[in-house]
Formats: sequence, C-alpha cells, structure tokens
Amino acid sequence: MSTSFGVMLLGTGSSLPVRSLCNGDFPASLDTSDEWIRSRTGIAERRIAAVHETAVSLGLAAARRALESAQIRPTELDMIICATVTADMLVPSAACLLQAGLQCRPIPSFDVNAACTGFLYGLSIATQFIRTGSCRHILVVGTETLSRIADFSDRTTCVLFGDGAGAVVVGASEEAGRGEHWFRLYSDGRRGDYIRLNGARLRPPGSSAQEPRPSDEFDFLRMKGREVYKFAVRTIIDLVGEILFECNLSPADIDLVIPHQVNQRIIDAAFADLDFPVNKLMVNLDRYGNTSAASIPIALDEAIRTGRAAPGDRVLLIAFGGGLTWAGGVWTI
Ligand code: ACO
Repeated sequence: MSTSFGVMLLGTGSSLPVRSLCNGDFPASLDTSDEWIRSRTGIAERRIAAVHETAVSLGLAAARRALESAQIRPTELDMIICATVTADMLVPSAACLLQAGLQCRPIPSFDVNAACTGFLYGLSIATQFIRTGSCRHILVVGTETLSRIADFSDRTTCVLFGDGAGAVVVGASEEAGRGEHWFRLYSDGRRGDYIRLNGARLRPPGSSAQEPRPSDEFDFLRMKGREVYKFAVRTIIDLVGEILFECNLSPADIDLVIPHQVNQRIIDAAFADLDFPVNKLMVNLDRYGNTSAASIPIALDEAIRTGRAAPGDRVLLIAFGGGLTWAGGVWTI
C-alpha cells in the first residue's frame, strides 16, 4: 500500500503515586545523603507506589487522562502498546489488562520490553501502523513500579528510581505541518550485563527446573553505574548527531528536547557537548527520579500541559536503557 499518513499526538496523560520519598527520607543505614544524591544525579525526590498501586493501575489512570485529552472513547482505539519492565504479571500482559480495564474492543494489545527505551520503541511501532492506515487510534503507555525491583539496601541503585506512568494517544494527521516523524531504534545485547533484572518469578538462567524459587538476589535490578554513565553520555551525543544530520536539522530547528530522565549530570554533559541551549531541555527528574519506560511520556505530558510544547512544535525524543537499547526521534507534534 502506498498510503502514508503523518502521526499526530492527539492526547497525553500521566499518573504518579501520591507518596513522595525525599532524599532525606532514606534510612541512616543506607549511608547516603541528600547532598550526594543531588550532586551526582540531580534527583531530590521520587514517587513510590502504595500497596494498592501497580503498573497497570497507574497505567490505566494515565491512559484515561490521555483519552480524555484526545477526546477519544476507549472503544475507538485500534491497538494498545504498553512499555514496561515491571508488569503486574507476565501473563496476561499489562497491555491486555489495560484493554480489559478500559473496556476496549478485542483489539491487539501487547507489551514491549526495551527497558528505559521501551516507550520510544512502542511509539515507533505505533507510527508504523498509523502511517500505513492499518490503525486510526493507538494508545501507547509507559508505566513502571521500579520501587518493587529496587534493592533498598543498595545505595548505588535504589536512590535513582521512582514509580509512575505516562500515556499518549496517536492518530493520523490531517493537518499540514504536523505529524512528520523520524525514528531510529538500536540494541546491543553483548552489553546486556550493564543493567540486569532476572525477574522475581523466573528461575535464573542455568538453574535446573527442580531448584527452589531463586533467592532475593535475583529479584532486584543490578547495574554497572560507571559503564551505564559512559554509555548514556556517548549514546546521546552520537544519536542526536545522527538524527540532526539525517533530518538536515540544527539545534536551532528543535523546539524542545525530551531526554530519558536518567540523571542531570548525564543530560548536562551530553547536551553541553551538542551545543543545545539549556532552556530547550525538558527535565523533571529532580521530582520523579528515573521512571524508566514512563519517564518520556510523563515529561511529554508535563510539557504539553504547562505549555512548554505546543501543536506544531518539533520535539526531539531520546532514550537509552537496559538491553542495551537506545532510540531517538524527531516528531512534529
Ligand atoms: N550515596 C553515597 N555514596 C554513594 C552512593 C549513594 N547513594 N552511591 C554510590 N556511592 C559511593 C560508592 O559506594 C563509591 O564509594 P567508594 O569510593 O567508597 O567505593 C563512591 O560513591 C563513588 O561511586 P561511583 O559509582 O564511582 O559514583 P559515580 O560518581 O559514578 O556515581 C552513579 C554513581 C550516580 C550511579 C553514576 O555512575 C551514574 O549516574 N550512572 C548512571 C546510572 C543510571 O543512572 N542508571 C539508571 C538506570 S539505566 C537507565 O536508565 C539508562
């Protein structure tokens, strides 16, 4: 089929747990400090899910807000894509639970696991279905409860992460000057050991089926912080350079940059090298920490609702994470 549509952002939404955990709230036994966390990461606080809150319940609330702002009924959706590494369960997927919760038609619904890059993978998949005319409206959700896989006795990881969800509804663009998009996705599994999460319900690779449930050691996220730091800075610089070159754009042509909300030092180091003015960077990690697949849709929703991004703006989206995976794109929203 030769039909090709632009992909318009019809609505956004987000949902964050009420409970906030400030740097000073970590127990003395963790041997950390507000000063250390702020100066190394830029994070001041993060939201932590209450007992009754899950990736699906947060995702559902974000999805409802996105649908409301798009003025689309759940029955008008043609597909649901959910990016998460902390789905409530392996089967059914979080996307299927969202489909049920929203009372949609029996539309295709599936999860994407590309860690912190998952939302951009999902958005890129959605653009393919819209572009060809196969779908009219797609819901893309990024949702995480990272507090459930963080080891709160490990100061090198637990201070970094937070919980939350963001969602977008996209559809075919009928307005001139909107909907142009260009995405690139990458992975390198050879460096998979930089960020690992075995999964609480799985026996670790190499163990026999007779072995009892793995110990807690296998349930938590583990990370090589230094290596991730270097990978992240290098990846942002290379990927943004590639995108600007391929699209024949300069930093002046970009209205807003929404990077994965990983760490202020990483974002500052990369974008200083790229000569991007600081006022073009959307950053909210000081309030929410790193929410993995949810970080970009939460920041995008905040940018739209606060007027930092407006219809017709050219937005640069950049993400990287476990896998390793990385992705970026330019999108005229
Ligand atoms: N509080 C106090 N001290 C700490 C803490 C903490 N929370 N964490 C580590 N330290 C200590 C270390 O134990 C070490 O002490 P030592 O010298 O006595 O051994 C010292 O600080 C230096 O440790 P480094 O790991 O070298 O610290 P660094 O400056 O590299 O900062 C950090 C660590 C913040 C994790 C950094 O490496 C980083 O930002 N990495 C990127 C990781 C990341 O953000 N990952 C997110 C998940 S993946 C993703 O989203 C893409």
